[in-house]
Amino acid sequence: MRFHVSFTLNPIVTPLGGTDIAIPRSASRVATSAAVAGAVYAAGESKDEVALKPARTPASQDVERRVSTLLSKMTTEEKLQQVQLLSDGQVTDADAKNGVGGVFSLVNPQRINELQHIAVEQSRLGIPILFAYDTIHGYRTIFPIPLGTAASFDPDVAETDHRIGARESAAVGLKQIYSPMVDVSHEPRWGRISEAAGEDPYLNSVMAAARVKAAQGRNYAAKDKVVTSVKHYAAYGQPEAGRDYNTTDMSEQRLRNLYLPPFKAAVDAGADTAMCSFNAINGVPGCANKRLETDILKREWHWDGFIESDYTAVAELLNHGTAASPADAGAQALNAGTDSEMVSTFIRDNGKQLLASRKISMKRLDDAVRRILRVKFRAGLFDHPYVDPAKAEAAQELPDARAAARKAAGRAMVLLENDGKVLPLDPSKKTAVIGPLADNGKDQIGPWWGRGDDSKKVTLIEGIRAQSPGATYAEGCKLPGNEPPQYDESEDCPSTDFTEAKAVAAAADQVVLAVGESRAHSGEAASRSVLDLPGNQEKLIEAIKSTGKPFVVVLFNGRPLTLDGVKGVAPSILEAWFPGVEAGNAVADVVFGKVNPGGKLPVSFPRRVGQVPIYYNHEPTGRPCDVTQKYNSRHRDIKSCDPEYVFGYGLSYSQFEVSNLRLSRTSVGPGGSLRASVDVKNVSGPKGDEVVQLYLHDPVASISQPVRRLRGFERVTLDPGQSRTVTFTIERSDFGFYDNSGRFVVEPGVIDLYAGNSSKATLKKSFNVTGR
Ligand code: NOJ
Repeated sequence: MRFHVSFTLNPIVTPLGGTDIAIPRSASRVATSAAVAGAVYAAGESKDEVALKPARTPASQDVERRVSTLLSKMTTEEKLQQVQLLSDGQVTDADAKNGVGGVFSLVNPQRINELQHIAVEQSRLGIPILFAYDTIHGYRTIFPIPLGTAASFDPDVAETDHRIGARESAAVGLKQIYSPMVDVSHEPRWGRISEAAGEDPYLNSVMAAARVKAAQGRNYAAKDKVVTSVKHYAAYGQPEAGRDYNTTDMSEQRLRNLYLPPFKAAVDAGADTAMCSFNAINGVPGCANKRLETDILKREWHWDGFIESDYTAVAELLNHGTAASPADAGAQALNAGTDSEMVSTFIRDNGKQLLASRKISMKRLDDAVRRILRVKFRAGLFDHPYVDPAKAEAAQELPDARAAARKAAGRAMVLLENDGKVLPLDPSKKTAVIGPLADNGKDQIGPWWGRGDDSKKVTLIEGIRAQSPGATYAEGCKLPGNEPPQYDESEDCPSTDFTEAKAVAAAADQVVLAVGESRAHSGEAASRSVLDLPGNQEKLIEAIKSTGKPFVVVLFNGRPLTLDGVKGVAPSILEAWFPGVEAGNAVADVVFGKVNPGGKLPVSFPRRVGQVPIYYNHEPTGRPCDVTQKYNSRHRDIKSCDPEYVFGYGLSYSQFEVSNLRLSRTSVGPGGSLRASVDVKNVSGPKGDEVVQLYLHDPVASISQPVRRLRGFERVTLDPGQSRTVTFTIERSDFGFYDNSGRFVVEPGVIDLYAGNSSKATLKKSFNVTGR
């Protein structure tokens, strides 16, 4: 008999969603993708920076002793309760009394305390519950979506986001966050591309490490810290057709070179929990994947944390067709290395029978429980299980948090076009703010809004009016972004009658036009097959253009969009992503020139959806794209080999020049490293930021290597006329890669190095790697 599970429990029905620690300033010196070779950090890093790796306190021996003592007292029932993770909607007082291991999505501090009191005082062994939440880009003070933060190319932005997110979460009694999400993705159709750092493993690694260190601090037992859960393990970002939860088939080299590095960076930074993914990888579902969970994460990487399943992922093993019954699914998950089961209760309910029939072993169950208890001890839960509800509210949305969210949103914005220098606008002129996202606090905070709906959200019109008093407003059209079952896209900006919007624009001197996606268009279970602006928003842009007024299109969205129909029409395009609670102020800062935009795209924007997947770090082909010829790798109906906007691209109100690439040596032997330096100068315009980027390419290798891969970046701020030298230290391991047998190799030969301000960087130098 086969079981089939159906999921009426929609994981996104509700927004399930200290001690400060310095993050190394230069991203060129943070954990590298090559760190998967074994080193925690690039060997060139200073000792001080290595020392920043969060210490796992209290002292590990003490923790291990306490875990062993407790474990030895636990009954089988108590162990099976400990591996159970329930949602806020499921958990009862009886679960707490029975010793349930974890609860997620519960955010009321009184109720958290109530359950904790029951667990600590009424369960036989008094083991505290670990309370978790999806604090993805803020708890109450919502920061830009992670894809936006990645666009800042500034790990400080990720650091601040998670430092504040941890503080606000911990204040209500949460002690674990389901973040960072580090799923590298080449799939703009996939709505969850909004939740990680885009298409590059190095950028994802840097951002992941910054988030983990900030949320956990040196000791996540501190009252403003939480343990992080890196997710979704693994390769969840590459679902076929971009359809969420869909299957993934992946070569060993791709898995290890592209998808695993950010997980390694996160665990090296101290992430003590991880979440296995919904999808199957080469036919084996993430939460039943022994190779990934046990062989790689736990053994190869020597990781002693615990893995929770994603929502009902254990039950979904039935739908995947790898398990024949709930008991079978529970056994598969536990045996593969899943330590904690979210929502479904197959391990707990069938555990005794599985033990009796030897389908699971007590040794493995003990190991899972040990891992969970270890994290609870490290989190200080046994010593300080309760939260003070009276203080919970006082920690929310503090002025420093709001200021940081505003700054982060500004740093995340990417200026895509600025023909005729329409931007910055003059705030003393009469400004019209138009568009379905102009007076819209709900959508501007994006998917995974945490408790952000309870925040004071500064809308675009409010932010613009604060700097350009008397700004006028017209909605243009509505963008409901319906949820299922309707998903009625025809309701998105359905009208083409823009009479009012045109009149408001015509009566102003300049226009800020806010279009894009609603928050429901992106995020979980929000895959799209078309990447254009939903509805008639392009027509709205044309209507505003017809007034002849200077205008800027401000995009709010959670994924790359196809902007072919916008590019030729709008003189200025500012990519704002979903900027968070301070959206209005942050956009106003940029369009009026208080903030000079300096973000860069963390993901390619295709010209048409048919180009997908299109990404800068692709492998070469035998017939590289050439649009002047026929028999090569191109689309006959696209007159370019490139996406609309490439990875690493972004403009500024200033012009920068990157020049004079030089290397400290011409060959690197075993154990060696090399320094690459470039000069960057602000040649015209106001004070501003440039992101200097360094790429590597191995032109001849045993398996074909990406045409480029990012290996360093640094965002620098320069006064008018100022120049600086940026130096990157590159280790020998950075020139290596994983082959298809899972072996990391550094092969002798030539390596090309490119430097510039996008993935199209043109400065080039080559050097030799010698020896094995
Ligand atoms: C499902 C999502 O895939 C995951 O990211 C999230 O952490 C869990 N639900 C819990 O809300």
